[in-house]
Amino acid sequence: MSPVRVWIALLLLCCSSSCRAIQWLGLTINGSLVAWNESEHCKVLERLVPDQTHLCKRNLELMQSVVNAAKQTKLICQLTFSDMRWNCSSIEHAPYFTPDLAKGTRESAFVNALASAALSHSIARACASGELPTCSCGSTPAEVSGPSFRWGGCGDNLRYGLQMGSAFVDAPMKSSKSGTQATKLMNLHNNAVGRQVLAESLETKCKCHGVSGSCSVKTCWKGLQDLSSVANELKSKYLAATKVIHRQMGIRKQLVPRELDIRPVRESELVYLISSPDYCTRNPKLGSYGTQDRLCNKTSVGSDSCNLMCCGRGYNAYTETIVERCQCKYYWCCYVTCKKCERTVERYVCK
Ligand SMILES: *[C@@H]1O[C@H](CO)[C@@H](O)[C@H](O)[C@H]1NC(C)=O
Ligand SMILES: *[C@@H]1O[C@H](CO)[C@@H](O)[C@H](O)[C@H]1NC(C)=O
Ligand SMILES: *[C@@H]1O[C@H](CO)[C@@H](O)[C@H](O)[C@H]1NC(C)=O
Ligand SMILES: *[C@@H]1O[C@H](CO)[C@@H](O)[C@H](O)[C@H]1NC(C)=O
Repeated sequence: MSPVRVWIALLLLCCSSSCRAIQWLGLTINGSLVAWNESEHCKVLERLVPDQTHLCKRNLELMQSVVNAAKQTKLICQLTFSDMRWNCSSIEHAPYFTPDLAKGTRESAFVNALASAALSHSIARACASGELPTCSCGSTPAEVSGPSFRWGGCGDNLRYGLQMGSAFVDAPMKSSKSGTQATKLMNLHNNAVGRQVLAESLETKCKCHGVSGSCSVKTCWKGLQDLSSVANELKSKYLAATKVIHRQMGIRKQLVPRELDIRPVRESELVYLISSPDYCTRNPKLGSYGTQDRLCNKTSVGSDSCNLMCCGRGYNAYTETIVERCQCKYYWCCYVTCKKCERTVERYVCK
């Protein structure tokens, strides 16, 4: 085994607290191997909490959406963070997590919110595409349709998505033995933020009818934006997340911002309990993979710039030859021929 694999193997936490919330993300592999038509299938991931297993048995038809959501969460988290020092690669180990996601960090706040949004998104879309026997298109909006358009088509069923999605993703925090009160509150809060951002992404989509695209008649419905847009919005919230502590406020303990500004936690902000390392150097105990050998962008001024990505250590340059199609010509009718061109590109990797 490579050294990296060894430390991953040693450090995968069998989580007792915070990452129980997202262990269902481990369904991507085993969940794709079964047809989800027998309640036995609810055992393919041993780590579902009892309430999730009950939900599974009572709503087997929903499980394909759950598996889908888990895949989407992994993919989109990595896409969204590909320009960051922490690049979400450790999510691949689900249902086992390294400390970057096993503790109440800013990164786990993001992943919880994204996973929560992803599940409601996946269910809302599945309703609209007729894949689920228990739901169908979203209800027609209350806003009156104007002279230029009428409501029609089939909107995403956000309401059902939010209802079933929250029942599933919030279940681990409602079971008594998983984690501290503070982590449960944190996860519940961040899950709700994810769903809120999803709900705000609902937009009116239209299709034109009428003579040759004249658009004299339009049919419109409410549809959700793609999950990657939701993820980008959540990434902004990740960058602005608030560190909180669990403190007595009035009659009960609540999460409140750690800074001295005395205010309750806002509905719209992501919250976390534990500060993350800077992810510059490898430190398995902290769940940091380090940025050595990561690609960086010499001309960028953002988080993927060589300066920020490499944490000031500098970078090595190498050249790579890429072959691409070029000088394409169209022949009537109907084919295209291209030449193959070689192009050398400079790449930079962190020292
Ligand atoms: C479930 O689906 C599989 C594959 O489609 C099929 O072989 C099996 O008989 C089904 N089981 C039940 C209980 O319907
Ligand atoms: C997937 O299924 C195999 C065989 O049943 C089991 O050993 C393994 O633990 C399962 N994986 C997960 C992530 O639950
Ligand atoms: C993400 O970071 C890890 C650890 O530094 C690295 O091995 C992996 O190649 C990175 N993935 C991408 C897509 O850059
Ligand atoms: C590097 O960053 C610049 C400026 O943001 C961008 O235009 C360019 O496409 C990036 N290059 C790569 C290889 O990502």
